[in-house]
Amino acid sequence: MIGATSETLICALADIPDDEGLRVDLNGFPPLAVWRVGEQAYVTDDTCTHGQASLTADGMQNEFVIECGLHQGEFDIRDGSVRSPPCSKPLRVYATRVVDDQVYAVLQEEQG
Ligand code: FES
Repeated sequence: MIGATSETLICALADIPDDEGLRVDLNGFPPLAVWRVGEQAYVTDDTCTHGQASLTADGMQNEFVIECGLHQGEFDIRDGSVRSPPCSKPLRVYATRVVDDQVYAVLQEEQG
């Protein structure tokens, strides 16, 4: 569902592999990445802000930190903040919650 502020069902918590993340493609949105730490999920953009690298395909997750596979920049998936250069622009994160083992996020349509 495309909506400016409504919650969207992203996936089941069990669908997210440990320490890898899951890429989710939804119409009208940039590629998303869903990460799992314990029973909590985090939804971010999947594309690194430094270049055209997929964080789920090439990155490495170490709990709350994602290392991009291309140049080893790092982000914190809780708030998108940069943890290590060469990245300088934060990663977009989406308000996420888990209800009955289903992951929901508040998505915003991509701005032209
Ligand atoms: Fe991700 Fe360069 S593309 S650190």
